[in-house]
Amino acid sequence: MAIIETRSLTKTFGKIQAVRGIDLNIEKGEIFGLLGPNGAGKTTTIGMLCTIVRPTSGQGIIAGFDIARHPTQVRRKVGIVFQDPTLDTILTGRENLQLHARLYGIPASVRNLWIEEMLELVDLRERADDLTKTYSGGMRRRLELARGLLHRPAVLFLDEPTLGLDPQTRARTWEYIRTMAKREETTVVLTTHYMEEAQNICNRVGIIDAGRIIALDTPENMIDTMGGDIVTIQAPKPPLNQIRSLPYVSAMKTSGDTIEITMKSAHLHLAELLSMIPEVISVETRKPTLSDVFIKLTGHDIRDDAAENSESWVETIARYRQRGK
Ligand SMILES: Nc1ncnc2c1ncn2[C@@H]1O[C@H](COP(=O)(O)OP(=O)(O)OP(=O)(O)O)[C@@H](O)[C@H]1O
Ligand SMILES: [Mg+2]
Repeated sequence: MAIIETRSLTKTFGKIQAVRGIDLNIEKGEIFGLLGPNGAGKTTTIGMLCTIVRPTSGQGIIAGFDIARHPTQVRRKVGIVFQDPTLDTILTGRENLQLHARLYGIPASVRNLWIEEMLELVDLRERADDLTKTYSGGMRRRLELARGLLHRPAVLFLDEPTLGLDPQTRARTWEYIRTMAKREETTVVLTTHYMEEAQNICNRVGIIDAGRIIALDTPENMIDTMGGDIVTIQAPKPPLNQIRSLPYVSAMKTSGDTIEITMKSAHLHLAELLSMIPEVISVETRKPTLSDVFIKLTGHDIRDDAAENSESWVETIARYRQRGK
């Protein structure tokens, strides 16, 4: 039986239809990614599943409990790491966990043991007695992960757990999430704007756009629907009609003097293709990613929407400095 089940789950805020009827079946132990642009309804969906946001209609069951009828039982089963940081920065790392342990009624006999285990898991033992306001962004995120898992929830919701972190810290944080999910047999539902990272960590992903799930599958199957490899060729005069009629070409897109061709088995056909095109300036071949799937399905890049939100201050300043040069 699925550990998370939703039927036509819907939320409207006044005139805004944030979530328009979502059906999900997530199995125990899955790492499930909810991907979509700003305002797609990801945080609202997670909010309903955690019983923080009341659904307008539809149904959600978590670990056998109905989110509308048994919110208290549902809360005991779930952990959440919010999109916006919620640590108490005037407390130390350990004190933050102790506070959470009391709020969740973790028995005193195991409280300290579980806290030590979590500090160990996220590599924060040495800094546990420092105030969290002295922590780096990555350390704070790790402490939030530890806190989300402290009461051993059956389901952990992570809303943009790596937003604004540098690539190295993001990679480490995903590693922690993977380790925790495996060790605790936790089901994880996460949202992220980093498509390549979602591709690596998630067993399945749902793409959500304007409050609806528009695709749901394993990352591999989604990528297979792209119809092959992506070859980008820069050339001033490509014979477009001739290229389009080749049996192994599944899609084609031009922009200026660049042509992007989706084709089956590029390694077998690339030489023939190139022999048809005069004055080739450059060629690049790559495997499609979830970002390509996203663009194909929604007509836009998740990064265009995400740019303003996913950039940390450090990145913003670096970008402006670069521009000034
Ligand atoms: N409390 C609220 N009151 C009114 N409108 C809301 C509220 N919460 C969310 N919305 C609206 O619902 C829609 C979905 O918002 P939501 O936060 O779920 O999107 P999201 O997919 O998490 O976006 P992001 O990637 O920016 O975090 C948006 O149009 C948003 O403005
Ligand atoms: Mg959100």
